[in-house]
Amino acid sequence: MNNRDNLTEIETPAFICDTDLLIKSLDFHKKLTDECNCKLLFPLKTFTVVEILKYIQRYVDGFSASSLFETKIARELLNKNQSVHITTPGLRKGEIKEISEYGDFIAFNSISQYEYLKNQLNKDVKIGFRINPQFSSNIDNRYNPCCKNSKLGVPIKDFIKYINQNNCNFVSGIHIHTNCDSTDFQFLADTFNILENNLFEFLYKIKWINLGGGYLFENNKQLSLFQNLIHKIKNKYNIEVYIEPGASIIRKPFFLVTTVLDIFNSDGKTIAILDTTVNHLPEVLEFNYKLNISDSTANGQYEYILGGSSCLAGDVFGSYKFIKPLQVGDKIIFDKVGAYSIVKANMFNGLNLPAIYQKCGNSFKLIKKYTYNDFIDKYSSCYNN
Ligand SMILES: Cc1ncc(COP(=O)(O)O)c(C=O)c1O
Repeated sequence: MNNRDNLTEIETPAFICDTDLLIKSLDFHKKLTDECNCKLLFPLKTFTVVEILKYIQRYVDGFSASSLFETKIARELLNKNQSVHITTPGLRKGEIKEISEYGDFIAFNSISQYEYLKNQLNKDVKIGFRINPQFSSNIDNRYNPCCKNSKLGVPIKDFIKYINQNNCNFVSGIHIHTNCDSTDFQFLADTFNILENNLFEFLYKIKWINLGGGYLFENNKQLSLFQNLIHKIKNKYNIEVYIEPGASIIRKPFFLVTTVLDIFNSDGKTIAILDTTVNHLPEVLEFNYKLNISDSTANGQYEYILGGSSCLAGDVFGSYKFIKPLQVGDKIIFDKVGAYSIVKANMFNGLNLPAIYQKCGNSFKLIKKYTYNDFIDKYSSCYNN
């Protein structure tokens, strides 16, 4: 987003969905998966704004969910030909019946969880397991599903023992999700080789495999590796292949507009306080992400530490350089912030959440505005209502 001129009508902070970019992204992912004859799911954990999910629903074969609430909204938004896929380490006894009624596929995160809950399942739900291939890419352990002592998925060696010692005819598929923000489809192909080398004829018995998310597809120079892998899986094993890319679909179409509230000097550096906070983009702090800021450039003469407006000392976005000096009232635009932002944002310090707009051409449609009631509802006793 480069043109700030028509942002004057926007009350900041605000998340803005660029509809053209969203449609471009959805078209790209749908075309790719249609061409490979694999199924496209959108994972709701990445993003759950209902108005926008109604757009996404038109391009996908289903949604994937990690909880009862996500399963319910998925079922409400999808039509009968689209499916709801669940995997989570946190299935609850009190919820499994409902989850397996709304959901079509459950990939159990552990054998013990399946054994504990199996008698409560709706009989039509397709049962699978999330498998941990114990093959790690070179990523930070905070988001590496295959890190040592991982809680995510049945370790492949344990899964082999289980299928060798039990009649596993009830298992119709497997799920893997082993990467994050990766463009390396060779790693995905190598991961699948591990499954082939360990599970042998079991792969011929199942009906589906979900390869998870964790990969960025657009502008990826290795797309042919991905296409060849899908082709191989489908031809050799004759199984349905699902992918569930979150960030790849929804990161780019969203930007956050914020306004400079104050500018001052601190120990020789210039601080610009913004009307947003890292709590609107929590992954900036969690994973030390550097933001893409329109108008900021590596060779800009004017450098600012961009600070959020909460009382937390660490509520800073980092140092960014600009060509022109910033002024109080200027708008700053954080690009590509659609994934894991709105779903994780919170009202720490009583700071309101950013409103959500949809940009269609040059006009902006308000989708959601939060109020004092949203803030206080969260902390009010349920007995007052
Ligand atoms: C099981 C599973 N599937 C899909 C995704 C989406 O991943 P991404 O947004 O990196 O594509 C995640 C993210 O954590 C996940 O845990």
